[in-house]
Amino acid sequence: MKYKRTILFVDDEPNILKSLQRLLRQDEMNVLCASTGVEALEILGKTPAQVFVTDQRMPEMSGVDLLSAVRERHPEIIRMMLTGFTEIKVAVEAINHGEIYRLITKPWNDDELRATIRQAFEQADLKEEIKRLNQVTREQNFKFQDMNRNLEEKVRERTKQLAHKHHELRTAYVQTVGALAEAVDAKDAYTRGHSERVGVYASKIAREMGFTKEFIERVYIAGLLHDVGKIGIRDALISKPGKLTEAEYEEIKRHPSIGAKILEPVDFLADVAPCVRHHHEWYDGSSSGYPDRLRGDAIPLPSRIILVADTVEAMTSDRPYRKAMPIDCVVSELNKYSGSQFDPTCAEAFLRLLDREGECFIRSEVKFDIYEFIEG
Ligand SMILES: [Fe+2]
Ligand SMILES: [Fe+2]
Repeated sequence: MKYKRTILFVDDEPNILKSLQRLLRQDEMNVLCASTGVEALEILGKTPAQVFVTDQRMPEMSGVDLLSAVRERHPEIIRMMLTGFTEIKVAVEAINHGEIYRLITKPWNDDELRATIRQAFEQADLKEEIKRLNQVTREQNFKFQDMNRNLEEKVRERTKQLAHKHHELRTAYVQTVGALAEAVDAKDAYTRGHSERVGVYASKIAREMGFTKEFIERVYIAGLLHDVGKIGIRDALISKPGKLTEAEYEEIKRHPSIGAKILEPVDFLADVAPCVRHHHEWYDGSSSGYPDRLRGDAIPLPSRIILVADTVEAMTSDRPYRKAMPIDCVVSELNKYSGSQFDPTCAEAFLRLLDREGECFIRSEVKFDIYEFIEG
């Protein structure tokens, strides 16, 4: 095809077709002709045309029927009817049914017909442009959907990586803290494993009390580090087998505040420091507690939990001067001092645990894994 634009005329009168071709000779368009509806459809099946003009009265297939067929098969083509005055009624009906864009009457005015054809092509261009824009919009939407999917995928992947990194950091951190606690316990053969067990008991009590994972973890860390201040106490005092003098006891009593001072400057242990400082306070605020003789809720909750865990661990372990106490004694001690030394809710939580799990969990040598413990 020579030109970009193509028009197809259908008329059973060869003279009409000839004069139409002559009329459009100068215009930049391919002019195709057909003398029947069947032939017209055949041409359109092979050659794309933007504008289609048909006569109404033809043997075999009428113009209106042909327009319907074209509309169905090639809806994008701009359709027009060229008709004699006598067929106007039919043509108007065709217009009303949306079959055609314009009606041209025979005999036509050359200039008017050319103008009409030009407008028809413009209409076709417009239709084409709208179609193209719709297509572009659809493609853009697909692209955006794709981008969104990719983005979601990336965010998911990144979150997974972060969670993994976070897990690694926590593990390293717990290991560091554990090493610190072990260094303390190592000062005295008899207290080996004390800190770890206090951490475990304390976190179990916290879980029994229904606290969040974060809180349970903090209680565990605080429990693990509760005696870290003993690093600053003379070894001879810590492992002294006999009874301590009053002066010696006063020195031992400094370990909670020394511990807090050690932890305070460490960023990720700062919130653990007060829990360590107050782990020997008595719930009733009596002078037996130290270092600040805080009372009731003024004592950090982790400290109150640790005090129960610490006492239970100490009572159930062998000491140079005595053997481990039977569990009955532990229970009666807890009951006896509940409300004075111990926060009753913490003591009760421990007793509930003991009731349910039996004393075996106290004796167990299993190392604490915060993740297994919390998630399991
Ligand atoms: Fe202590
Ligand atoms: Fe302790």
